[in-house]
Amino acid sequence: MKKDIVIFYSNTGSNEYLAGKISKNLNCPMEAIHPKVDIHPFLLFGINFGIRQLNSDLKSFDRVILVGPVWMGKFVAPLKSFLKKYKSDINELVFVTCCGSTYENSRKKFGHELVFDKVKALYEGPLTCQAFPITMVMPEEKREDGEAVMKTRLSDANFTGEIAQRYKKFIESIS
Ligand SMILES: Cc1cc2nc3c(=O)[nH]c(=O)nc-3n(C[C@H](O)[C@H](O)[C@H](O)COP(=O)(O)O)c2cc1C
Repeated sequence: MKKDIVIFYSNTGSNEYLAGKISKNLNCPMEAIHPKVDIHPFLLFGINFGIRQLNSDLKSFDRVILVGPVWMGKFVAPLKSFLKKYKSDINELVFVTCCGSTYENSRKKFGHELVFDKVKALYEGPLTCQAFPITMVMPEEKREDGEAVMKTRLSDANFTGEIAQRYKKFIESIS
């Protein structure tokens, strides 16, 4: 069995929820990424102030599961800082995102596959990427409504049906 650690960044809680679930299911520790500068995270879009030192020694793990959101089609600054700072300590990386873009739109503007390409360009070791679009927990008629997408949060109450099935397969695939 691989020795894993979950590292996450989350603003409104959905990626924290996902990180907590993964850490519980893989029975491994988890640690949050904290940006160095305490300003509203959306102001971090393009600007990279860096992150605080982690407590965990990533070299002592076989695999790092990195969990965080996608904003404006970007690999968000705290995640990018994390990867730049620690990539030489990471033996294998799994990037997981709870994002707004659907599987159908994953290669369109702001789609998560474009962010996966950015992760691939930054990290040269073994890498797997997995998206859990938040739209899966929304009624079909709301899935194109940007405001509704941004307001929706993952919770025990809505983590059922399609997202739960995909999540189960994902955990099996990395276990
Ligand atoms: C300002 C803003 C911009 C966003 N831009 C994108 C985007 O470009 N692509 C995408 O897939 N999701 C986008 N989203 C959706 C977020 O990725 C999604 O809401 C995510 O679950 C938030 O994670 P968190 O609750 O862990 O902070 C955006 C959300 C916000 C608030």
